[in-house]
Amino acid sequence: MPDANPKPWTETTIVGKSIPRIDGPEKLSGEAKYTLDQNLPDMLYAATVRCPHAHARVTKVDVSRAAAVPGVRAILSDADKDCNIPWYRGSRLFDPHCRYEGEEVATVAAETQQQTWDAVRAIEVQYEKLPFVSSMVDALKPGASKVQDGGNIVQPNNFSRGDVAKGFAEADVVVEETFQTSCLLHTPVEVHGSVAHWEGDHLTIWDSTQFPFTTQAGVASALKIPLSKVRVIARHMGGGFGSKIDLSKYTVLAALLARKTGRPVKYCLSREEELLCVGNRPAHNLRLKAGVKKDGTLTAFELRGNSEIGAYPAGDSAAYLVRELYVCPNVKTEEAPVFINAGQSRAFRAPGFPQSAWALEQTMDTLAEKIGMDPVEFRLKNISMVCGVDGNKPYTSIGLPQCLREGAKAFGWTEARAKAKRDGPIVRGVGVASGMWGYLAPPISTAIVRFYADGSVNLNIGAADLGTGTRTIMAQVVAEELGVPMAQIEVENADTGTTQFSDGAGGSKTCMVDSPAVRTAALEVKARLLEMASAQLNVPVADLKLAGGEISGPGGNPKVAVGRLRTLQTQRVVVGVGTRAPHPADKAVRPFGTHFAEVEVNKRTGEVRVVRMLAAQDSGRVMNLLTYRNQVLGGMTQGIGFALTEHRVLDAGTGKMLNRNFHDYKIPTAMDVPADLTVLPIDPHDTEVNSTGTKGLGEPALVPAAAAIANAFYHATGVRLARAPITPAAVLEVLNAKRG
Ligand code: MOS
Repeated sequence: MPDANPKPWTETTIVGKSIPRIDGPEKLSGEAKYTLDQNLPDMLYAATVRCPHAHARVTKVDVSRAAAVPGVRAILSDADKDCNIPWYRGSRLFDPHCRYEGEEVATVAAETQQQTWDAVRAIEVQYEKLPFVSSMVDALKPGASKVQDGGNIVQPNNFSRGDVAKGFAEADVVVEETFQTSCLLHTPVEVHGSVAHWEGDHLTIWDSTQFPFTTQAGVASALKIPLSKVRVIARHMGGGFGSKIDLSKYTVLAALLARKTGRPVKYCLSREEELLCVGNRPAHNLRLKAGVKKDGTLTAFELRGNSEIGAYPAGDSAAYLVRELYVCPNVKTEEAPVFINAGQSRAFRAPGFPQSAWALEQTMDTLAEKIGMDPVEFRLKNISMVCGVDGNKPYTSIGLPQCLREGAKAFGWTEARAKAKRDGPIVRGVGVASGMWGYLAPPISTAIVRFYADGSVNLNIGAADLGTGTRTIMAQVVAEELGVPMAQIEVENADTGTTQFSDGAGGSKTCMVDSPAVRTAALEVKARLLEMASAQLNVPVADLKLAGGEISGPGGNPKVAVGRLRTLQTQRVVVGVGTRAPHPADKAVRPFGTHFAEVEVNKRTGEVRVVRMLAAQDSGRVMNLLTYRNQVLGGMTQGIGFALTEHRVLDAGTGKMLNRNFHDYKIPTAMDVPADLTVLPIDPHDTEVNSTGTKGLGEPALVPAAAAIANAFYHATGVRLARAPITPAAVLEVLNAKRG
């Protein structure tokens, strides 16, 4: 068996380089097949009747008129016993109790997509409208309408260490502020969807999912069929940001319709359904109280918060950073998620962490000002070098001090801070914020490398590539160990029928979990090749080296081209299977990052313009500089949306969502994102986290971005806007209030 924990690399030649995605040409040319592109002979289309009310009970579903619509081949509703499938919290697939606008009521399959829409309109549904709650404030009022039978508060999530009362008593300065963040939508470019196809009792699903093995398990359990009878394929994806982690109803509906009709069924959501139904980052209300001594020592943090999680449970704690990022002996956090009648929240790029940074990092800014310390220096003084929520374990590596120091230097922090402009109609300022991310589940991965007689390679891994470049990075790991050119490596991935279990592309863990297993598999192949060469050349394995497609002895002689290894030519393939070692038990694993932002605020119009940003990230080893930069630029961009423009709007009168399209739900466009974005990788050379030294980047690249912008806004205006997004209307309101 290969060593599952080989020594980390010291130097690399291919890993770390800016290598374009291996599937780039396929994607750019349109040849890459996404789920939406999957067309099968005799395929039907599907669409769903969704509850148009924020809260209602379905009293009658009449499908007779719809059944007569041309092209309609099947209709499913709660009346079908096949649909008696348990879903969240005792509800079922078509639950007559609709708890949000968009909840599924009936589904049709028809010959064309247009016919499905005609049929959907022809299904007659009677609803008894129920009182609704569309904000956590309303949901918490006595006598509020209940979203779930058990009430509107989900199990609180509390944490405490030390004694906060004592901590506040010891403080020279105590500050307290209520921070608010808005409900944000995932908006992946590719909508959610599935294509289901039965052959006999075997079901194949092409699915836009981050977790093909979760879809497989969920569908098998919903349909009560063995895992071996379900194959899920997710080869190409156009993003997910967490909204494609869980199994959704549309996948099961596609499978049921396909079974009922005996035809393949494609069910891809419309953009409107996408914005209504497949998840969001919940809004948070966070009251944060903090104490500090004059010398900059933190004495206490107390956080009380609620999050607005929609109609079904999902967890998003905004307390993580408060508990862990800085040394503070007394910390108390009390959070309770609250149900409202709206689409449920779901994991969204570092669930809870950007909200946590929004509150904590603005508070750190305020504390620094009150005690007259520079915000970078104040943070540097307080960074925790051990993990305060996990037995004070040291981190495998922590590059946060370098993120702050080197980031400040590269950004020109001190100069920019001094040059802030406070007079005239357009003011300017700079801000900083830090963050971290933690992923704790056990790292399970099995990779297979097949080395063929001509020296080319098939790499087989379960992980999906949701657009981040996973396939490319894993191929680089193989190329690094075996010297095979990138163009000769084929990556087969995210197919439960032909690849091994991988926990999926989420939690920023794909690289850190899978790349060590890929490396082990490649090393296994290398060991076999060296053994073959040793026998053929009569040179001990220890004296041989593999480079440039040749295996050679000391000083380059004797040597043999890999393609001329006699054993390889006979057996035609060498197979290496790699797994990986667990995370180190006595250390905590965290990526870190610090963002700097410069903003201009137009005091007449209230517009906030991000002039430039710099992100210093410690995610361990940079696996591919190009995809690394892409991730971080995306993080800063989403942070701009979080800080300035994005929020789901529910109508207070009807509870219905008002901005269910890309015109009214404002993600940043090219006009909102500055050209001046700098990505500064900080690599602390982590030799303990795993054998590739990488810690995960996707989520930490977002965490501090919005808070850095908010702090820059404060620096420019002298006014704290604790509620996101910082819209022109909100800016004018606080500036006018300040002027009296
Ligand atoms: Mo993520 S929110 O684990 O895609």
